[in-house]
Amino acid sequence: MDTVEIRRRFLAHFADRGHTVVPSASLVAEDPTLLLVNAGMVPFKPYFLGDLPAPWRRATSVQKCIRTVDIENVGRTARHASFFQMCGNFSFGDYFKAEVIPYAFELLTAGFGFKEADLWATVYHDDDEAEQIWRTLLPPERIQRRGKEDNYWSMGVPGPCGPCSEIYFDRGPAFGRDGGPIADEERYLEVWNLVFMQFERGPGAGYDYPILRDLPSRNIDTGLGLERMATILQGVDNLYEIDISRPVLDRASELTGKRYGADPADDVRLRVVADHTRTAALLIADGVVPSNEGRGYVLRRILRRAVRNVRLLGGRDPVMADLFDASVRALGPIYPELTDREVAITQIAVGEEGSFLETLRTGTTIFDTAAAAAKTSAGAVLPGADAFKLHDTYGFPIDLTLEMAAEAGLAVDEDGFRRLMARQREAAKADRRGRRIGNVDLSVYRPLLERSGPTVFTGYTELERSSRVTGLLGGADGALQPAAVEGDEVGLVLDVTPFYAESGGQEPDTGKILFDGGELEILDVQRPVADLVVHRARVLRGELRSGTEVRAQVDADRRAAISRSHTATHLIHQAFRRALGETATQAGSLNSPGRLRFDFRSPGAVPPSVLADVEDEVNEVLVKDLEVRAFVTTQDEARRLGAMALFGEKYGDEVRVVDVGDYARELCGGTHVARSGQLGSVKLLSESSVAAGTRRVDGLVGIDAFRFLAREHLLVARLAGALKARPEELPDRVADIVGKLRDAERELERVRADAVLAGAATLAAGAEDVGGVAVIAAEAPPGTSGDDARKLVVDVRGRLGERPAVVALATRGDGRATIVVATTDGARTLGLRAGDVVREAAGALGGRGGGKPDLAQGGGTDPDGVPRALGVVRAIVARTTGG
Ligand code: SER
Repeated sequence: MDTVEIRRRFLAHFADRGHTVVPSASLVAEDPTLLLVNAGMVPFKPYFLGDLPAPWRRATSVQKCIRTVDIENVGRTARHASFFQMCGNFSFGDYFKAEVIPYAFELLTAGFGFKEADLWATVYHDDDEAEQIWRTLLPPERIQRRGKEDNYWSMGVPGPCGPCSEIYFDRGPAFGRDGGPIADEERYLEVWNLVFMQFERGPGAGYDYPILRDLPSRNIDTGLGLERMATILQGVDNLYEIDISRPVLDRASELTGKRYGADPADDVRLRVVADHTRTAALLIADGVVPSNEGRGYVLRRILRRAVRNVRLLGGRDPVMADLFDASVRALGPIYPELTDREVAITQIAVGEEGSFLETLRTGTTIFDTAAAAAKTSAGAVLPGADAFKLHDTYGFPIDLTLEMAAEAGLAVDEDGFRRLMARQREAAKADRRGRRIGNVDLSVYRPLLERSGPTVFTGYTELERSSRVTGLLGGADGALQPAAVEGDEVGLVLDVTPFYAESGGQEPDTGKILFDGGELEILDVQRPVADLVVHRARVLRGELRSGTEVRAQVDADRRAAISRSHTATHLIHQAFRRALGETATQAGSLNSPGRLRFDFRSPGAVPPSVLADVEDEVNEVLVKDLEVRAFVTTQDEARRLGAMALFGEKYGDEVRVVDVGDYARELCGGTHVARSGQLGSVKLLSESSVAAGTRRVDGLVGIDAFRFLAREHLLVARLAGALKARPEELPDRVADIVGKLRDAERELERVRADAVLAGAATLAAGAEDVGGVAVIAAEAPPGTSGDDARKLVVDVRGRLGERPAVVALATRGDGRATIVVATTDGARTLGLRAGDVVREAAGALGGRGGGKPDLAQGGGTDPDGVPRALGVVRAIVARTTGG
């Protein structure tokens, strides 16, 4: 039975039983406590918690999920995959245990053809009710009770939770021991988890969390892994071999020339490549781009692991384009977003692959240098700081560093590496905390939303209005408080607001709130949970009480400047698509007063001529003074009308469309000008890369654009005056001057090096004889660099001919001294090795050193030790030669 059919039967089974079929939500979780959707119930969390009324009493879905906690296990076991699809049925306060158990049993037996005799069930240890229901379907010896670790489900973060009942399939004695799931989970495979969602848990790790309350209603959440079901029904060994994964595996095998099934270690790698490529394709299709934090980092890590495993399999050429092609073919029938945007999706992966291959090249050079230094250190350990730098600056994964170090016979200070990583994570976390509104835990907003209902936003059509304070959040914990006084900074909730909360790349409004006897300044506006707007406000005068009628006033000039930027962003987006093709879609944006930033997909840098064309076209649209119009319609209609957007399948079918005349049409919740002419002018500044396959332009709008151009004009006029040239002659004139300067610098460098080497003859002439060895132990001329000192000792040694000779030169600089030693063959025959001499002499400089027998270098932090170090050199020669 192919996967598409399993999926169809699952949904049909529940549709027949009164469930609404809900499409999969985007992998990008709207829930701020999660990076990515990792279970079928995630999009429904607010309905379980009662934060939002559920639109249906019963629903069923097949949800795209990503789990990366076990990423090390991917490919090694039959069960772990970073991407999977969870089939689920959900009851929001409707049916409960008595219905869900028979529903599941019927589908498994009648729908999928499982024999009753192969099924087992587990229930939570005190759940008599579930056990009684199971006894009507299975004999008691095939129902087992288990504890919290196995039969109690929560999201791993605060949220809904409850006891569960799991259904297992017995694969038979060939796969393990008798005795049911409690005895052996390889033989007895878990196929379906039925969760009785009844409680809400608070924060805490593992099972160490408080139960906060009973949920408002008793709910059902179930999860059946589609790939696991396909593994069983298709009779294959593991989930990489089912119909929607195997083609990718086979393509990886073709590309690397490694036959699947020939070598267990290679098989693991092939499975990793197949798994990770599919996951990456789906993440990119949902709008994630590779970056160094959050979801972007998950994607980057997955793509890089795939590339690296291809290399371990012996592949040397880029392979992502081929692997993505295979993934899109395998999953496209289920997820049309993959096929629709195949070119753009693949471009991003190919770009990331290219930059990682480059990283591997540079990183390898850096690694080699660090490894060479580490080899001369005590214990042959690569310092944690080097491993961290490789990871942090060069994007070199630690597993790669470990592996290469092992090959080079080096250990790695992993503890040191982890300490530095932890420190960096802490810093990032502190940064995130600082950015949240008033450090408030999200649970504070729920009672507020329940009490006062969603905030109504009226700011599309008005900038000022009367409204009522429905909540004041204050203090470090953001607790609700009855009043705020002068000087307080609070989170303010209004029943109706004209203030735009930051979203879709548009900066929040600021402004004022006036009330009888007082005034507040609005500093920031956010929407921490859907439908609730929180204004960060400072009380300037008076005492504000909850419930008070106030006058809300948006700073109109600032709003107008932001709106101009936002409209300009739409025009730039459209102009890029016209210039570069449909694949130049938006990847992010920031609209601030007078300035904008626009990120878009493009495989390489955009030539200046294209930027100039885009700018030109946008400014022409401004002159046409097109009307800007917004309207609300259904998602399907918007798609039909050709609006630009990443169409995630989100719930809530209504979308807002913004048209700029007949030039640009885009889905957008932001604010805009009324006519394009109000933008005045648009100037694009720089173009740069933000991530593989993603480019960024910065731009100015309106008076800011004009002022910028005026300033540049003035600057050019001044330069032309200073260089006595016409503006159009400036580039040639400057290139000419820079060229001359470079020649002069080269000449100067040559003269300086000659001067250093000129001293060589004098030094060679001053050799002392110590027991038959010519010894030169001197301080190099002031200002000699380390490089020059090395050249100098080698030069002096050359002048001493075949004689046994030891040449030592010391330099000193700011709080540091170095010593370089060279020996001739004759000296080495007597046992005088440069490395040994330096090791001992560097001690006098308060440091360490070493190197090869013919040439070595060392140094320390005590410049005053130079005479002593040179004395040590003479003493070593005397000691060795008996002179
Ligand atoms: N939420 C449960 C799980 O993820 C059942 O859907 O296993």
